[in-house]
This record gives sequence, structure tokens and C-alpha cells, in this order.
Amino acid sequence: MMQVELTVNGEKRSDEVEPRLLLVHYLREVCGLRAANVGCDTTSCGACTVLLNGESVKSCTVLTAQAAGQQVVTTEGLAAPGELHPVQQAFRSEHGLQCGFCTPGMVMAAVSLLQENPSPTEEQVRQGLEGNLCRCTGYHNIIRAVLAAASTGAASAVAASTGAATTATAQPANAQAEVTA
Ligand code: FES
Ligand code: FES
Repeated sequence: MMQVELTVNGEKRSDEVEPRLLLVHYLREVCGLRAANVGCDTTSCGACTVLLNGESVKSCTVLTAQAAGQQVVTTEGLAAPGELHPVQQAFRSEHGLQCGFCTPGMVMAAVSLLQENPSPTEEQVRQGLEGNLCRCTGYHNIIRAVLAAASTGAASAVAASTGAATTATAQPANAQAEVTA
């Protein structure tokens, strides 16, 4: 076991975890945050997408230890309790979900996309979300939702909600982690 300190949705945490514990399992089982889903064993579905220092990552590919000392944001942390982030609002108003299983990952990928590109074209949205799969095949409305969010100027809310000043300061998921044993 090892002690890991990190910030999840603005809350500083210190937890004892197994070195092999994946971030998605840490979020779901230790933090009780169930938005990030596990939809595959092959790093292909994106249902587990969260933000690590403002950049979207598939949390099934990141060890909790790798997130030590860093900022993690899940869908639960995008807006104040009882409120919707502009991207979530757009998914709601454009009917960008069916069963909802892929939705948290889609929303987080969209947040990351709009942070990098506040006014994407439809093609750029499709490319930006290509790592996220929807088994209900609801892509048409998902793309519409992201474009709608962009048209309402959601990018500024995106930056505020993720705590990332700019993408240039964000660290990649495989950055050297700070771990206290
Ligand atoms: S659970 Fe499918 S990519 Fe992470
Ligand atoms: S809405 Fe069902 S998997 Fe996407």
C-alpha cells in the first residue's frame, strides 16, 4: 500500500491505495464518484474520461499513483450541486444522450475539446470525440450538443470549472507523478 495525495473536484485528499489501483477505480470505489464508467477492457470506449490538470484522460489507463499531486476533475465537479455546466446543459437541451452510459465521458471530452478550441467546426468536434464511443450510436445529437455549447461561449466556463489556466500548463497523463510512500 502507498499514501497518495491529490485533489479531486477541488477537494484535497490523502488515501492509502494499492500501487496498481487504476484512477477510475479510485474515483468510483474510494471517492464514491460514479460518473466515470468502465465500459471496456481495451482503452477504447472513453466512458472513463476525466480531466487531469485540465486535460482529458482515460482514467482506466492512469494509475492513481500517477495522479498524485495533481488535479482531477470528474463530471460531478463541473458545476455546483444542483446546477449544470454549460456543456451538460447543452447535452440536455440537444438530447445528446440516450442510455447515458457514455455521457459523462463525452461531456468531459467535450469540455477538454472546447478548452483547446472554443469554436470548433463539426469536423473538429467529430475528431475531438473520436476516442469516445456511444453504444447507442447517438453521435448526431452529441455533436450538436458540443456545437451548441461552443456557440454559447461555454469555453470560459470550461476554463473556470477545470481549474486549468491554459492547456500549455497542463501536464500529460504520463507526467512524472509525486508519490509519498
Ligand atoms: S473504460 Fe473504456 S476506455 Fe476506459
Ligand atoms: S447514450 Fe448510450 S452509450 Fe451513449
